Amino acid sequence: MNDKKFYITTPIYYPSGKLHIGHAYCTVATDAMARYKRLCGYDVMFLTGTDEHGQKIEDKAREAGVTPQQFVDGIVAAPGGVLDLWKLMNISYDRFIRTTDGYHVAAIQKIFKAMYDKGDIYKGSYKGKYCKPCESFWTESQLVDGKCPDCGREVMDAEEEAYFFRASKYAGRVRELLLNTSFLEPKSRVHEMVNNFIDCEGGLQDLCVSRTSFTWGVPVDFDPGHVVYVWLDALFNYMTALGYQNDKYDDLDKFWPADAHFVGKEIVRFHAIYWPAFLMSMELPLPKKVYGHGWLNFNGDKMSKSKGNVVDPHLLSERYGVDALRFFLLRSFPFGSDGNFTNELLIQTINNDLANDLGNLVSRTTAMAEKYFGGALPEGRQSAELDDELIALASGLRGRYEEQMEKFQFQNALEEVFKVIQRANKYIDENAPWALAKDLEANGPRLAQVLYNLLEAVRVCTVLLTPFMPESCEKIFAQIGAGADARSWESAADWGVLSAAASVAKGENLFPRIDMAKELSELDAIMEEAKKAALPALEVEPFLEEQVDFDTFCKSDFRAVKVKACENVRKSDKLLKFTLDDGTGTDRQILSGIAKWYKPEELVGKTLVAIVNLPPRKMMGRDSQGMLISAVHTEQGEEVLHLLMVDDAIPAGAKLC
Ligand code: MSP
Repeated sequence: MNDKKFYITTPIYYPSGKLHIGHAYCTVATDAMARYKRLCGYDVMFLTGTDEHGQKIEDKAREAGVTPQQFVDGIVAAPGGVLDLWKLMNISYDRFIRTTDGYHVAAIQKIFKAMYDKGDIYKGSYKGKYCKPCESFWTESQLVDGKCPDCGREVMDAEEEAYFFRASKYAGRVRELLLNTSFLEPKSRVHEMVNNFIDCEGGLQDLCVSRTSFTWGVPVDFDPGHVVYVWLDALFNYMTALGYQNDKYDDLDKFWPADAHFVGKEIVRFHAIYWPAFLMSMELPLPKKVYGHGWLNFNGDKMSKSKGNVVDPHLLSERYGVDALRFFLLRSFPFGSDGNFTNELLIQTINNDLANDLGNLVSRTTAMAEKYFGGALPEGRQSAELDDELIALASGLRGRYEEQMEKFQFQNALEEVFKVIQRANKYIDENAPWALAKDLEANGPRLAQVLYNLLEAVRVCTVLLTPFMPESCEKIFAQIGAGADARSWESAADWGVLSAAASVAKGENLFPRIDMAKELSELDAIMEEAKKAALPALEVEPFLEEQVDFDTFCKSDFRAVKVKACENVRKSDKLLKFTLDDGTGTDRQILSGIAKWYKPEELVGKTLVAIVNLPPRKMMGRDSQGMLISAVHTEQGEEVLHLLMVDDAIPAGAKLC
């Protein structure tokens, strides 16, 4: 049995819209870490998932005219959704949790009840601001200029009955945990947490953990009308996914406590303060580490509303390859700090590191082994002093890399690998194999040694790059003829592992160079197209070219009319029958094919516009004296009619001209 275990998690994503490259950042980092640990021989559990409850989802579903469950299903499991994206990006998660999964919901109810029974959750009232039209509660600090942040309207004082978690009871223990252990990293985030939320005026406040103003959440089973606050529901995913309070899984003893939760910096507060406090309340072991990574900014903004950059991971992967994108994310930004994402930086990184340095090294080395020795290096080789530096650098690489990986410093770990790659490229120039090849009889053994050293350098680097670029590394291993024993973690600290008989074959160019100017202009064109596609799918009927003279126009008699009564016409699902006041003192009856868009009762009292000098006609056996005017447009192929309604101050019979 393997006693080296490693449990790592990503935050579970809100499926409220499309994921962008910023979301992929953390998942790719977690994946690289999980693959690294597997490479080192650990039994790894890598958990990711989706956080599917809450008001935001409920609102978005309503806007979309579907149920919340249909809405989240459409983003998580539908083609092109979250699951597809992780598949595309080669994310090797072991388990995927959805907080709408039945086992999780039932577990959350048990946890909530246990905390309540213990006295750590109590009933109180939540005082805040309420926006009536939006039916939303806000805290003072959420308001924008004192108004509703969603609609900008005035808000009122309000109170809602709610359950609270006694966070204050655990403030001291959480403070200790943050200040005196390495629970939260990077260290820079510790003081921010302690100063802003624990050592602040009033100390750590109890947390409101239930809501009654919406329904899309885990119901509090002993108090209908309340749903569990989304963060309490979401945070426990890290344990329910292992089988905590449910029978679906059975890995809790094996994997809990987690070795690392990777989370974005804005959700460190929930993971570093409330999460340990919840666990303390439930008397459960705490995770070993919360690592708060930085944001990828898009021109200084965390949100992707793409200011001039393509940020769709599907599109970027398609153009540059999944491995190049994965590599770029971890090579270009220090994990603990923010970084500025641009398409230019992405292309530059691919060209410099992957095409020039790594790609070149692999293709030159394999091409020369093939050209000079038919892909199989001869046995007799000859070392020289010139080899020492490269061999020393490459042999010590695994240790330096490991030191950085253990600290989650992906950028530094990759920097170490690239130092060796660059040194190897220099070694090619120093040894000029093409010059040695001019006299193979005399220089054959030396040339074989030079190429062997290069192959070994490529091999060691490739083993260590595998967690970042799994597919490309497979291909490199195949090109240099590395068998299973030459791909292992152990072999990365050894020199001279490749067998002399290995057959080397130059393969496809793994990382083609990108023409920066051409590529950027193509990306611009893509963004223009996307902008156009984002316009509402409104089809405007073409204007008539034929002109009408004024006198002819004036022959149409348009009048304001008031709806006195309105009813459906029997046996017709199209027609409504209107009784109208047209100002003459005698009721006018008009039939209109508008029933699909209006209920009769909502039209009574409205002021409409009718053309009154059309010849009377019969519709479904009833008289119609004129026609009501509507605006008509086509939306997504469907015709939509709106009755023309005018100001009610306009008297019946007023002429429109
Ligand atoms: N549902 C919560 C997490 C609950 S964990 C128990 C959530 N979801 S989220 O979809 O809004 O964000 C998921 C993660 O993506 C967060 O860690 C967030 O920091 C990260 N990112 C979102 N945009 C990002 C960038 N632009 N850059 C880096 N990470 C970003 O929060």
